[in-house]
Amino acid sequence: MADDTSRISPTAHYTGAVWRANGLGDTRLDGVLSRTVHRFLSPGGRLVRPFLGGATLDTALLRRHLIIDHLLHRAICAGATRVFEVPAGFSARGLRFSSAHRGVQWVDGDLAHMAGLRRAALGPEQRVEVIDLLADDGPHALSRFPTAEPTVVIVEGLFNYFPTPVVVDMWVRVARFLQQCPVGWLLGDIALGSHVRNPLVRLFLMALGGIARGRMTAHFDGPRDAESTLLASGFTEATLHAPQAHARALELPTPDAPDYLALIEARVGSLDPHHAIPLTPG
Ligand SMILES: C[S@@+](CC[C@H](N)C(=O)[O-])C[C@H]1O[C@@H](n2cnc3c(N)ncnc32)[C@H](O)[C@@H]1O
Repeated sequence: MADDTSRISPTAHYTGAVWRANGLGDTRLDGVLSRTVHRFLSPGGRLVRPFLGGATLDTALLRRHLIIDHLLHRAICAGATRVFEVPAGFSARGLRFSSAHRGVQWVDGDLAHMAGLRRAALGPEQRVEVIDLLADDGPHALSRFPTAEPTVVIVEGLFNYFPTPVVVDMWVRVARFLQQCPVGWLLGDIALGSHVRNPLVRLFLMALGGIARGRMTAHFDGPRDAESTLLASGFTEATLHAPQAHARALELPTPDAPDYLALIEARVGSLDPHHAIPLTPG
């Protein structure tokens, strides 16, 4: 796993730099965040912009991040009182949401090296834990945490670095943990086989794979396959959202850019009927 981590970590610097450049970061992370790769690669993205419906890698990542924010906001409105963001990388989502939602407990999780950087930058105010999503049990497993709270687990920007069976194992592990909670959500993103048939989307994935010095993997043929695998993994409800549909509804920039991934909203357990919010179209 150590190899995978060192391979994947530079992508956290890239995405962290995108959040920071677009007003979604936090200056407290500046001392540990390297923006060099972003500074060199980001302008290159603008060259392909006319072919991508006005999008760049950065705007596509922003779209993903903002739609996950929206899905999280809905889960909190539906009764979630605790959030794990794993991997947190250099995301400032916890810092943004903790000040907007005082009653929500926030736990940032990542592998040891990244968790160490976050702790050094943020100090004791923000809870940062070592969490390895490949661990079934032991001191770094998600399963070690108490399960009394309605809980959201956000897994952004991780699944595509692993082969499908490893991803499914992670889904089973997260579902098993959330099944112990009164109600639980998994929010995240995944590239589907149907996406990579678009050569421009393949270019996006190659760019991310280049930063991670490894191949990005697409999973399943399409959203229905992924949804049924989420259900088979232990979730009681699963929707794969097309970012385009939400980008239009939320009035995000470049709504017509092609989707290079789908957003996962999966739930375990039933909602308090007073809180239930209908799902928007996937
Ligand atoms: C692309 S970054 C995503 C970070 C953040 N979610 C974001 O969108 O900015 C990938 C992160 O995955 C972390 N990671 C790699 N393997 C992991 C594992 N087994 N469990 C938890 N995190 C892992 C890396 O340390 C890195 O921070």
